[in-house]
Amino acid sequence: MGILRTLDVDEVLERQDSSELKRRLRGRDLVGFGVGIIIGTGIFTLAGVEAKHHAGPAVTLSFVIGAVVAGLAALCYAELASSVPTAGSAYTYAFATLGEVFAWIIGWDLLLEFALGAAVVSRGWSGYLANLMGLPPELFGEDATVNIGAVLIIAVLTVVAVTGIRQSALFTNVLVLVKVAVCVLILAIGVFFISGANLTPFIPPAQPPSDGKDVLHQPVVQAGLGLEQSVYGIAGMVTAAAIVFFAYTGFEALANLGEETRNPRKDLRVGILGALGVCALLYIGVSLVLTGMVPFVNIDEGAPLAAAFDSVGMHWIGALISLGAVTGLTSVMMVELVTIGRIGFAMGRDGLLPKALGTAHPRWGTPHRMTIGGATLIALLAAFVPITELSDMVSIGALSAMIIVAIAVPVLRKRRPDLPRPFTVPFSPVLPILAALACLYLMLNLDVLTWIRFAAWLALGLVIYFGYGRRHSRLAAKDRQEGTSAPGDR
Ligand code: ALA
Repeated sequence: MGILRTLDVDEVLERQDSSELKRRLRGRDLVGFGVGIIIGTGIFTLAGVEAKHHAGPAVTLSFVIGAVVAGLAALCYAELASSVPTAGSAYTYAFATLGEVFAWIIGWDLLLEFALGAAVVSRGWSGYLANLMGLPPELFGEDATVNIGAVLIIAVLTVVAVTGIRQSALFTNVLVLVKVAVCVLILAIGVFFISGANLTPFIPPAQPPSDGKDVLHQPVVQAGLGLEQSVYGIAGMVTAAAIVFFAYTGFEALANLGEETRNPRKDLRVGILGALGVCALLYIGVSLVLTGMVPFVNIDEGAPLAAAFDSVGMHWIGALISLGAVTGLTSVMMVELVTIGRIGFAMGRDGLLPKALGTAHPRWGTPHRMTIGGATLIALLAAFVPITELSDMVSIGALSAMIIVAIAVPVLRKRRPDLPRPFTVPFSPVLPILAALACLYLMLNLDVLTWIRFAAWLALGLVIYFGYGRRHSRLAAKDRQEGTSAPGDR
């Protein structure tokens, strides 16, 4: 059948020596890229929305749960990224361990995560910009027929992403500094406006949803167990953790830069774990300040953080936060575009997507065709589709990819015990299995509608794989040439 044929790890390692991509990134560029893609709509918007609708002040604990799950997954990513550095990240790890069809599923899944992420964020960016500069909402707001602002920002960032990875890194580092400074400002000043009354009870008692019951919006785990639909309480806090997991997504993108990092064996793990640690601390602090400043039922859903400072009369801080959101969201989109290019590049190189996508630009050394193709799709989505609900799709996409990555750790250790591993997950296989189960548990706390959409996306992916990728795969061609099954075919 060949769908479980695997990629030879030695070939992956050799390939990066002759990679067309250019090794230009240092460790601190990676931390910058990581923070650049991680901090975004998750903390600027979703934290407030989830406190209001699902968790109350306990949204801070939701961020703690998210940090633990993301941290477990990040350890697995760090082991694989430092021992098998490649542009394909999770996609290539799955190809080398579980087989081609799993690799395809994960690649397809990551394209969903990053494309929808960029589209969601570009619309959010457009809205914040309109807010800051008084631009017409019919061209920039969520109600726009064609969201011009979202299309324009994607177009500008595509030019930066295509013309070179160093430019992307420099650009990202500057934006990241502004974003982190805004978060620190929120913490330093907001802490003086925290009122204990707003934080009590910290976990509000569970109650039925105020907007009526709706099975499509019930978490799968509740619906599956036939439980009453409820919000707040412990269950609400875990539901919010699954949704705000969106805020942590993106660190995986660093693992795609293995072929462009000067010293991938050391710098990748520093980048992944460092960026995630910085973001987790900021998120936990900022969500505590937000819920301490405003009674959770009164939180503004459009610009929760800016509105919190407006409500205590600190309007200039509110304006600075909006400015920080506009810059902060820019770097998220930037890294998402860069990542889509790398994943498509790796899939094209293996023949699962058209080969033309797997070549780099001769002068700029970037996967220009995939970046431009992906950006066109994102711009179309961002122009026409109101995508407020789709952040859940990003969470489910990221969590499912993390499950496969966690499983790949013990599988690769068994298959290639000899491989140099500059970083190892402690207590393997217990910790990777725990990571996979934790991701699955959060996935089960996402709603029924998100699962239906995700299943539809995977089904479409499998149709494309069986219609195109399986026959055009480079390994399939190798099999045909040799007239036998490939040695890695299991
Ligand atoms: N983690 C990114 C955000 O919160 C996608 O916007």
